[in-house]
Amino acid sequence: MSDPARRAAYLGALGIDQWVPRRPPSVAPTTVLPVAAAAPAGIDDGWAALASRVRDCRRCALHEGRTQTVFGSGSHTAEWMVIGEAPGEEEDRQGEPFVGASGQLLTAMLAAIGLQRDSVFIANVLKCRPPGNRDPKPAEVAECLPHLEQQVAMVQPRLILAFGRVAAQNLLGTEETLGSLRGVVHRFGPLNTPVVVTYHPAYLLRSPGEKRKAWEDLKFARQVFADLPSRD
Ligand code: URA
Repeated sequence: MSDPARRAAYLGALGIDQWVPRRPPSVAPTTVLPVAAAAPAGIDDGWAALASRVRDCRRCALHEGRTQTVFGSGSHTAEWMVIGEAPGEEEDRQGEPFVGASGQLLTAMLAAIGLQRDSVFIANVLKCRPPGNRDPKPAEVAECLPHLEQQVAMVQPRLILAFGRVAAQNLLGTEETLGSLRGVVHRFGPLNTPVVVTYHPAYLLRSPGEKRKAWEDLKFARQVFADLPSRD
C-alpha cells in the first residue's frame, strides 16, 4: 500500500472523513520518521539493569496481583515517546503495553501522523496492572514514577505524547482536566522534554465522537515536533 493510501486507511480507522485535494499538494506529505540509529555501546547495560529492577519491583502492593510487569516497548533511541496509564488485563497477560483493543487504535493514531509503532517507545505511568483497571493511587504513582523517569532519561525523546487524563495529570503533576491540558506544550523532567496530551484510545473507543479532537491533538503534536530545533 502507498503512504497516502495507508494514511487514508488509518484515518478511516479513526473515523475521520478526509478532504481530498483536486491537485497534488504543494507541500510534501508527512514523512515517516526513520527508526533511529543503534544505541552506543554501554547504553544497553543500563536498559538491562532497569528492566531487571522493574521485573523485580515490589515497591507497592500492586506486585501482589500482577501476572508480570509491563516494562514498555519500542526503540531505545526513539524521537517520540508514548506514555499511557497502566497495563490492562491483556497487557498484564502478555507483558507488552497497549496490546488490547485500545492498543490497535493507538497504533492507528500513531500511523495517522506517520509514526510506525516500533519507531517510538511506549511506556506507562505504572508498570503493574491495578486491580479491575482502577485509577492508580498517588502512592503507587510515587513508587513507580522513578522507573518511567529513568526510561525518559535513557531514551531522551524529543517529544512525549501523553495519552489520557491519568497519564497527563501524573506526568505534569497537576489535577487540571484533560480538556484544559490539550493544545499546549508542557514540559517534563530535567531535560524539559516537550509534552503534548491527548485522549486515551480506550476513551475514544467509548466516545467515538471525540476522535476528531484527538486528530487535532495529533496534528498539533506533529507540528510541535516539526518546529523543534534540530538535535545536531
Ligand atoms: N491502557 C494504558 O494506558 N496502557 C496500556 O498499556 C494499555 C491500556
